[in-house]
Amino acid sequence: MSRTVDVVLTADTVVAARLAGAAALVIDVLRASTTMITALGNGATEVIPVVTVEEAHARRRSLGGTTLLAGERGGDPPEGFDLGNSPLEFTRERVAGRAVVMTTSNGTKALVAARPATRTAVAAFINASAAVAWAQARGTSVVLICSGEVGTTSLEDQACAGLLAQRLAEADPELVLTPLAEEARRVGAAYAKELHRLAQDAPHARKLIANGRAADVTACLTLDTSTMVPELVPGVDKLVSGLR
Ligand code: MLT
Repeated sequence: MSRTVDVVLTADTVVAARLAGAAALVIDVLRASTTMITALGNGATEVIPVVTVEEAHARRRSLGGTTLLAGERGGDPPEGFDLGNSPLEFTRERVAGRAVVMTTSNGTKALVAARPATRTAVAAFINASAAVAWAQARGTSVVLICSGEVGTTSLEDQACAGLLAQRLAEADPELVLTPLAEEARRVGAAYAKELHRLAQDAPHARKLIANGRAADVTACLTLDTSTMVPELVPGVDKLVSGLR
């Protein structure tokens, strides 16, 4: 059977059967996956993705110590959280040597939904080349899971998935792109040389900019500034520094 590159457009539409035997890359360019890559790149020991705010508080209570609570609802940190969801907050000074429990509106949901894949890692524009190398090294089919925005497609996630699909196909001509991966590839090709255009074209980017978060958008729409590929440890649902 041929190996494929497939794309799922939203966290809500992840179907376990499509992940069987495949490696998954979870994408939430704005901003959860960019932030997770930055956190581990700056020395966080692990990032623990959870779905609800209540679960996040409970996990922090059980882990205790220096564990940080991070994430957002409506773009802002919920009450009692140490950090929001801006990659710029996750500096070495803030996160090195510490575990981070994280919940976001879509990104952490997509990660939890990716559990049925054989291996799961996190991708964004900032680690695109490293994420492609990680997926290629698996030697299996690859599913690119876009987190989307509360059940709707996110242009920036689809463009990132398309760029990864393009690079995977170039690196391994035996990989067959599914129709959704082909569509993403077309979207990705339209932005590959001008990622900054997504700041105007992607509704979530425009919303973040209107809320004073233009610097986050710029950081997230930057290619290959990191070689960190956070990888989910099966069974315990925590992200650690994976293959580089
Ligand atoms: C999400 O998980 O939905 C996003 O990362 C939202 C955000 O930009 O904070």
